Amino acid sequence: MRTVRWGFIALAAVVLALGLGGAAYAFHSGGVAECTGCHSMHSPAAGGSFLLVASDQSSTCLSCHEHAGDTGPSSYHVSTAEADMPAGVPPKQRSPGGDFGWLKKSYTMTIRGATSTEEGSSHGHNIIAADKGYVVDAVNATAPGGTFPSTQLACNSCHDPHGKYRRLSDGTIAKTGAPIIASGSYATSTTPGYAEPPAAGTALGVYRLLAGAGYTKGTATFSGVPAAKAPSAYNRTEAATQTRVAYGKASTGGHAAWGTWCATCHTNMHSGSGNVHPTDENLGSTIASNYKTYVKSGDMSGDGINGFTSLVPFIEGTADYAVLAGHAKNDDSVLTGPGGSDQVSCLSCHRAHASGWPHALRWNVEGEFIVYNSLYPGTDSTPTAPQFARGRLAAETQAAYYDRPVTQFASYQRLLCNKCHAND
Ligand code: HEC
Ligand code: HEC
Ligand code: HEC
Ligand code: HEC
Ligand code: HEC
Ligand code: HEC
Repeated sequence: MRTVRWGFIALAAVVLALGLGGAAYAFHSGGVAECTGCHSMHSPAAGGSFLLVASDQSSTCLSCHEHAGDTGPSSYHVSTAEADMPAGVPPKQRSPGGDFGWLKKSYTMTIRGATSTEEGSSHGHNIIAADKGYVVDAVNATAPGGTFPSTQLACNSCHDPHGKYRRLSDGTIAKTGAPIIASGSYATSTTPGYAEPPAAGTALGVYRLLAGAGYTKGTATFSGVPAAKAPSAYNRTEAATQTRVAYGKASTGGHAAWGTWCATCHTNMHSGSGNVHPTDENLGSTIASNYKTYVKSGDMSGDGINGFTSLVPFIEGTADYAVLAGHAKNDDSVLTGPGGSDQVSCLSCHRAHASGWPHALRWNVEGEFIVYNSLYPGTDSTPTAPQFARGRLAAETQAAYYDRPVTQFASYQRLLCNKCHAND
């Protein structure tokens, strides 16, 4: 077993070098990977079940998706090892879903004489991975708004480890049928025979191997997979150009809207059944126009062509994967703002895994300014403004915004709810 895994690490280095758009040495390739990458027939990890190579489901995934000594951001890694992020050093991955390492970053602050702690566990989904030091959430016993128990939360609560869901040539999603030839997550692929939509007799994996209709874990049964396309290099600093995932609307045939998908576990946090912020709902012309013209606090001079920000993504009002692929860029070549029939959903405000902010939000909502006196708030910024710094160094704040230069914002920038609502 050891030899197999070391062999894989060598291949993984090649994947890193090539990027993922149909790399010669992928692992899942959009479907079920080599069984022994995750299972060991004769020497499974002590205490493990399902003959897994590590102590539990999430530790198995993280045996590849986290790598000690990683200088990051690195390709398919979604977690930073604890030793690589001592106090004052932020997690290193910058993927759209976010680095689970933020769950281990607690911050202590003194505001108006009172000391309080922002628990790392509030930064996102506490997947249980004993080998990597991830433990069950201490605050939420279940998914807020639903019944899914936090004691069962793992990578495979949301991703099908066997990647069976596939998109057929007629656009529908199925669990069996035409073979999966490649990942369907990316804007481009070099796999021979790859086409968008997939050619007759072939299929592509669903976005990010996500759970689809009938997939049951704990109390949750999913109703369909959400649509999206990402650029093939997606885990990267946004210091110079943004990483645009093009999220799509639900269509028929085994798809679900993004809000419906999240609401599989967060039942009452969906607009249909609770008193919460609208999700999977059209922006309408006023909000779409705010989004397009909003540049930063006090500046509504945007032309709409450069309106997009990955800190407040919208759901495109299309289910056409070829259109989404054309928008999934990391070179700022397509930054077009939304139209009235594009939508707001959970991922407009939250990341799927974790973020540098409470509730896996894409920006800090705890305080009225996210930039203060032309600086990212930090305990080392002047003035210190502890209510905005919240116990972090300015560099940690910048990392949570995926390394954007502070000059992209106003000198006194208010919350990004304003991207849509322009109340500043
Ligand atoms: C990416 C990791 C991964 C790969 C690759 C993988 N498995 Fe699994 N497998 C898992 C996990 C995780 C579980 C536990 C599922 C759960 O918690 O319900 C599992 C469970 C199983 C089970 C128990 C029943 C079930 O489906 O839940 C069988 C049988 C199985 N795998 C067979 C295979 C075979 C055969 C292959 C290769 C064709 C394979 N697996 C490849 C991760 C993987
Ligand atoms: C043996 C190493 C290894 C293990 C174990 C592993 N992965 Fe991966 N994973 C990779 C590599 C390499 C890639 C990028 C290449 C690819 O997608 O095939 C990847 C990509 C992915 C992607 C993006 C795929 C896409 O098509 O968009 C997801 C999602 C993912 N892994 C989830 C998981 C989950 C969940 C588990 C555990 C059940 C797991 N992985 C276990 C190596 C691994
Ligand atoms: C609550 C559901 C959920 C859990 C739990 C979860 N994922 Fe994900 N994951 C997603 C979604 C949704 C995306 C797509 C994010 C996007 O594009 O904005 C994603 C994206 C990814 C990607 C692509 C890179 C990225 O971050 O965008 C990888 C790799 C991945 N997940 C692996 C994992 C692994 C490994 C685990 C467990 C340690 C895990 N996921 C746990 C929902 C989940
Ligand atoms: C498989 C079930 C499941 C799915 C699907 C799921 N979640 Fe969760 N979520 C949970 C559980 C369980 C918790 C509570 C444990 C925790 O906070 O770590 C949680 C917690 C959260 C939190 C609160 C974090 C905190 O500590 O305040 C947010 C925000 C969240 N989820 C958003 C989402 C979004 C957005 C999606 C869709 C991309 C999603 N969830 C999909 C199970 C799920
Ligand atoms: C317009 C932005 C926005 C949208 C859209 C949105 N949320 Fe939130 N969410 C927030 C903010 C801000 C908070 C924290 C403050 C609060 O509770 O109002 C939050 C808090 C949460 C929490 C933590 C609640 C708790 O009690 O700890 C969960 C879980 C959550 N959201 C899930 C979701 C899910 C699932 C969706 C989609 C169905 C969604 N959110 C859509 C902005 C949003
Ligand atoms: C991606 C765009 C977008 C973002 C970001 C956004 N909203 Fe909204 N919001 C909408 C849309 C669309 C509506 C529904 C249409 C309307 O009320 O005009 C809405 C409605 C609302 C409403 C009225 C709800 C009702 O039932 O009448 C409030 C309050 C609100 N948003 C607050 C917020 C706050 C606070 C934030 C930041 C945490 C936020 N929004 C971020 C798009 C957005």
